[in-house]
Amino acid sequence: TPLEPFDYVVFGATGDLTMRKLLPALYWRYRDGQMPKGARVIGTARSALDDAAFRDRARDALGKFIKPADLDPAQLAEFLDMVFYVSLDGAKADADWSAMKAVFADAPPERVRVFYLATSPELYGDICRNLSDQGLVTPAARVVLEKPIGHDLESARQINDSVGQYFAETQIFRIDHYLGKETVQNLIALRFANPVFERLWDSDAISSVQITAAETVGVESRAAYYDHSGALRDMIQNHLLQVMCLVAMEPPASLASEDVHIEKLKVLHALKPITPGDVGQVVVRGQYASGEMDGKPVPGYVEELGHDSNTETFVALRAEVHSWRWGSVPFYLRSGKRLPNKVSEIVITFRRPPWSIFPNLSEPNKLVIRLQPEEGIELSIMSKDPTPDGMTLRPADIDISFEKAFGRRYPDAYERLLMDTVRGDSVLFMRRAEVEAAWTWVQPILDAWKHGSPKPYKAGTWGPEAARAMLDADNRRWHEDM
Ligand code: BG6
Repeated sequence: TPLEPFDYVVFGATGDLTMRKLLPALYWRYRDGQMPKGARVIGTARSALDDAAFRDRARDALGKFIKPADLDPAQLAEFLDMVFYVSLDGAKADADWSAMKAVFADAPPERVRVFYLATSPELYGDICRNLSDQGLVTPAARVVLEKPIGHDLESARQINDSVGQYFAETQIFRIDHYLGKETVQNLIALRFANPVFERLWDSDAISSVQITAAETVGVESRAAYYDHSGALRDMIQNHLLQVMCLVAMEPPASLASEDVHIEKLKVLHALKPITPGDVGQVVVRGQYASGEMDGKPVPGYVEELGHDSNTETFVALRAEVHSWRWGSVPFYLRSGKRLPNKVSEIVITFRRPPWSIFPNLSEPNKLVIRLQPEEGIELSIMSKDPTPDGMTLRPADIDISFEKAFGRRYPDAYERLLMDTVRGDSVLFMRRAEVEAAWTWVQPILDAWKHGSPKPYKAGTWGPEAARAMLDADNRRWHEDM
């Protein structure tokens, strides 16, 4: 549905996220008719650029991240006409804010203005204070905070406190782009619109859950950010725990933001705490060494970085949600860079039959929910091998590709989420309490990792041997190892 004209201000406008994700997402929304005439995208950063120079950068980025067939020159020009630039150090109170204030001088007060902070989280508090001091925080204003919010529990609390001084919780959108992925939203449909699954969604029927977000890329140009973050802060604390909440939560009373957040928060609170003594057993910390990707040699993490580092590029861990529904079902979470494939998926492994009348029944049923690359759902069921003799069973798959089923382009997660911030719908965002509960749970791991160092794994493999050993000890295997 089309929206009323709005203003979208992006702090950190010259950065990677803006170029790679935000501008392409806004362009697609424009193309689909969701950016009304008069809507404006205002990039802001310290670099001294003017509108024309920023539009050039935006044009280059769109050329890079959108297929030429989808970039009609006339549409591109019309979109770029909606893009502006203000040169400003938003974290500085004594910066010259006049150009930013001028942007809003004639804007009607009810017009939605979104401030998207694609900057380092340390700046969030200062930027919000300055926006408020400059009189730019109207009731129709919203602020979007990129993850990670802080680098530990303490800093997350501080950021939430300071942003909370200037924006009400209903105006704050903590973005986690995994929640905007179509298949993550589809998980809610799968569970609560299909009793055939929800009736089996508990520890009676399910023996384990795996959630993997594997990437082939290394850290490349993002080393300055990544080396202070690492996989636990970059992926597990937010994306994977959020996905886990949607897998594990109870049916919410409705799809209203409040109802869904209450259920997600209950999951985070029910997580079995990890004690310092547990960390060595239930968490694997890895860092890629040189290896091979697609037959080509690639350098290790510290070689790319140019200095020594204890930052992890791989994490695998075993969590439990201590609730009536889940009992002690293990949730194995795993994420890493320089792994063999780019794949994000949830794998639900069901229990084996109590007794087998077949000679070789070996594989349990498995439901694979693919977030990417090819969004879909796969259910493996044991079937008779069509040989004329005997009764030999083999797994066969029911495989749904959403793109084929619906025959349309799958929008990027940011497209949905950016428009939700304009609409004011926060169901796919993180509440303060969730962010802090997630940090509370990972904090003992961060503390334990102040000592020791990650285990190396060869680039192009599925992480350190210890990740496999952790599942071996439970008599299980990672999905890719099957
Ligand atoms: C981001 C992380 O949040 O997610 C990146 O900061 C990571 O390190 C990216 O590459 C992965 O997102 P996606 O959508 O490609 O799985």
